[in-house]
Amino acid sequence: MKIYLKIWRQKNYSEPGFFEDFCLDEVSSDLSLLEALDLLNERLTRESRRPISFDSDCREGICGTCGFLINGRPHGGFEGLTTCQVYLRKFKNEDTLVLEPFRGGPFRIITDLVVDRSKFDEIITAGGYISASVGQAPEANSILVPKEIAEEAFDAAACIGCGACVAACPNGSAMLFTSAKIYHLNKLPQGRPEAKKRASRMISKMIESGFGACSLHGECETVCPKKISLKVINFALREARR
Ligand code: FES
Repeated sequence: MKIYLKIWRQKNYSEPGFFEDFCLDEVSSDLSLLEALDLLNERLTRESRRPISFDSDCREGICGTCGFLINGRPHGGFEGLTTCQVYLRKFKNEDTLVLEPFRGGPFRIITDLVVDRSKFDEIITAGGYISASVGQAPEANSILVPKEIAEEAFDAAACIGCGACVAACPNGSAMLFTSAKIYHLNKLPQGRPEAKKRASRMISKMIESGFGACSLHGECETVCPKKISLKVINFALREARR
């Protein structure tokens, strides 16, 4: 198949960016979009041109490293898929794909399609952990967790921190990400002792970091590849208020 690409090129944060056009001819529809970009990069390298920078690691939808806008939608807007799971067969022959970096909140463009998501790490550092005294590991079954609580916590823990929620939010809010972390820790008995402190610290850090406040637009839930529900936000706000 033949695919036209319009890709955001930007050398670094301080230089202005622009769209550059490329064409990939006779590529298999069984290639993933990232594999197609790999092919394009091989070509650019052979021609001594600057390859396109983009993030990826696991390429299986697990790590949350990949992510950019495909035709204006984070990860292309395909239900339950990360950018690395998007295959060319999702598009029609001779389609044009516009690829842009995630923009929103304090995500700064590092280069091309790569943005700095380190503010997420700062939010985690503010409370996304459980304090435990050193010593011997406790017996695994000494704190029993009801099945439904374990499952709810696990659903929220599926958040891979890709940043699609921020990119989709008109306020540039990271509330879905922050709340998913609060939810999965606060739901579990091991997380209860620090629950209130965790919620208020992480939400304050999110705002301090430059992300917008949440007004429950719900765009984040729609684009989340792990289908994290808006209910985590209500829960986190309740916890912080308490
Ligand atoms: S590269 Fe790991 S989720 Fe896409």
